[in-house]
Amino acid sequence: MARLLVVGGAGFIGSHTCISLLNLNHKIIVYDNFSNSSPRALERAKNLSNIKNITADIFSLKKGDIRDEIYLNSVFEEYISKKEPIEAVIHFAGLKSVQESFIKPNHYWDVNVNGTINLIKAMQKHNCKVMVFSSSATIYGYPDKVPIPELATINPLNPYGNTKATIENFLSDIAGCSNTKLIKATSNNGWKIARLRYFNPVGAHQSGLIGEDPKGMPNNLFPYINQVAIGKIKSLQIFGDNWPTHDGTGVRDYIHVMDLAEGHCAALENLFLEKPQLLTLNLGTGKGTSVIQVLKAFEKITDKKIPYEIVSRRNGDSAIAIADVTMAKKIINWKPKKGLEDMCRDSWRWQISNPSGY
Ligand code: NAD
Ligand code: WQD
Repeated sequence: MARLLVVGGAGFIGSHTCISLLNLNHKIIVYDNFSNSSPRALERAKNLSNIKNITADIFSLKKGDIRDEIYLNSVFEEYISKKEPIEAVIHFAGLKSVQESFIKPNHYWDVNVNGTINLIKAMQKHNCKVMVFSSSATIYGYPDKVPIPELATINPLNPYGNTKATIENFLSDIAGCSNTKLIKATSNNGWKIARLRYFNPVGAHQSGLIGEDPKGMPNNLFPYINQVAIGKIKSLQIFGDNWPTHDGTGVRDYIHVMDLAEGHCAALENLFLEKPQLLTLNLGTGKGTSVIQVLKAFEKITDKKIPYEIVSRRNGDSAIAIADVTMAKKIINWKPKKGLEDMCRDSWRWQISNPSGY
């Protein structure tokens, strides 16, 4: 059991991870500015854990921006004065839209990079040296090898990916492991940092009470298909059917968000138990699924015909992105349990119970 600061904890992945962290008896402070989330997600997440009678000591919320140095420091200080200092930070906060990052690169660098520098400074100041960071498979760009191992070339293709790769480098410098070529590198300055590279997180909590709630038109496949299935959008546009894949449509490694949540718990546990280190892991399933396969799985789950049209390829897309997950299994003993049907069923349950999101 530890006192944790979960920054960006109200978002899609953060809210699901809060449930898993609470189930492990951790005490959580969520720090979020709600720029892309709702406090409702947290109220619901709290009720979905196995812990009865959750008090403010076990689960509390601070509304703030990670770039707000004064407020961020005051949160660390509050818990030091309560004699229960924050022991670790799970860092989800950031902006994540590839498309938007081309339009607002300044904003992406400010929130993602400056925000993380600010957070690390606050941690350093209050002697909190354990962090689990949300990185992304987007930093691999067009992968030179599939399944993609952690030591593959880092070559982001968009401003969002550039910010993630830059933060990864920054964290490596902070841990005293600059330019390491190791998946698990020793930190000689006491830091314990995990850089988790998520592939394609999808699905929702099996209750259907929390899930992904994109604002405006969704960019990603799962929320888009859901909105077609529920009748909000007329048809799915499939970005190319001439990729070098088994059916010509793009292949991705979709991972259920609750499996991802468990992956965070496993990584955190590992950091707590092990010596100071910089750990870099892919979190995916190691399995590839094409757009057509996702569409068919959705049709089966929803019992609806999902209209689609083939359009030209989307800029910056690659044919295949699948994680090599050998190291996650080996180092943190984590393996996803849920399959494509669970991902479709759970995201659909969330969609039909919350057609307008939170
Ligand atoms: P999300 O947008 O749902 O969650 C991010 C949370 O951070 C939101 O609650 C938002 O309000 C908060 N936030 C944003 N800027 C903030 C700021 N300046 N101060 C405080 N809070 C702020 O996104 P998500 O899908 O849950 O992703 C979480 C993390 O995982 C992000 O860093 C994202 O880049 C990374 N990631 C996501 C995916 C994905 O497909 N969802 C894939 C790989 C990596
Ligand atoms: C999946 C497949 C599309 C929408 C993105 C980010 C990545 C990471 C995860 C944050 C591709 C196809 C999609 C549609 C389609 N996020 N598609 N029609 O691009 O693999 O990854 O989310 O870190 O950075 O780039 O996910 O869901 O957008 O696309 O045909 O309307 O579905 O071409 O093959 P992607 P996605």
